[in-house]
Amino acid sequence: MAATPAHSVFQSPSRLPLIGPSILSGDFGRMEADCRPLLEHGGDYLHLDVMDGRFVPNLTMGPDMCRWMRKYFPTTALDVHLMVQEPERFVDAFIEAGATNLTFHVETHQGPAATKLADHIHKAGALAGLAVNPPTDVAPLLDVAGAFDVLLIMSVNPGFSGQAFIPSVLEKARRVKPLLRADQRLEVDGGVSPKTAPDCLRAGIDTLVSASAIFGKPAGERAAVIQALRG
Ligand code: DX5
Ligand code: ZN
Repeated sequence: MAATPAHSVFQSPSRLPLIGPSILSGDFGRMEADCRPLLEHGGDYLHLDVMDGRFVPNLTMGPDMCRWMRKYFPTTALDVHLMVQEPERFVDAFIEAGATNLTFHVETHQGPAATKLADHIHKAGALAGLAVNPPTDVAPLLDVAGAFDVLLIMSVNPGFSGQAFIPSVLEKARRVKPLLRADQRLEVDGGVSPKTAPDCLRAGIDTLVSASAIFGKPAGERAAVIQALRG
């Protein structure tokens, strides 16, 4: 896989933790204008939540949103979170649209099926991530963690921004962390705010996704939230 500056944000970061604003809480009518200041003031990458109305009870965005974000942010790492059934149907379209990392869920793919899809994503030129939902045991993720660039611990039941952080999932982070290489990221997603981030960092998380804690503030206060998340 040819490493690009966007890939290196995850693989050889110049600082940690990484902060990834989730555009799900952005203004869908002016997404570029909403996101650009976040990247200029401390955001390391953008997180795109893809929901199919089946794996989760909500519908959000597809490859076209990724393509537009890539057009306006040509060098930014785009972290695509596939909360969909049959993610294998969509990975090529997102890679063609400029995704940097594609994270799918261990609830849809485990064991050889998960590593096979990671392999396909790598061969197509993107990074691969594996996510685990709060009620799901972390063991199937531990089994295949070495094949992934990003391991994502969900700290809400996925579907919507603005839900409360579930602290018990941090035990999973503590179990995953010792297995990881320096080029792998341990990401958390859901209810991440300046209040909950310190516990995440203490549990070994190095990559924080946050939607409502950032976009829920007036534009002039968002850089301070990103700074506070960083700790
Ligand atoms: C949840 C999504 C998250 C969501 C986070 O289903 O995967 O990325 O945007 O939103 P907050 O940070 O508001 O919990
Ligand atoms: Zn997400």
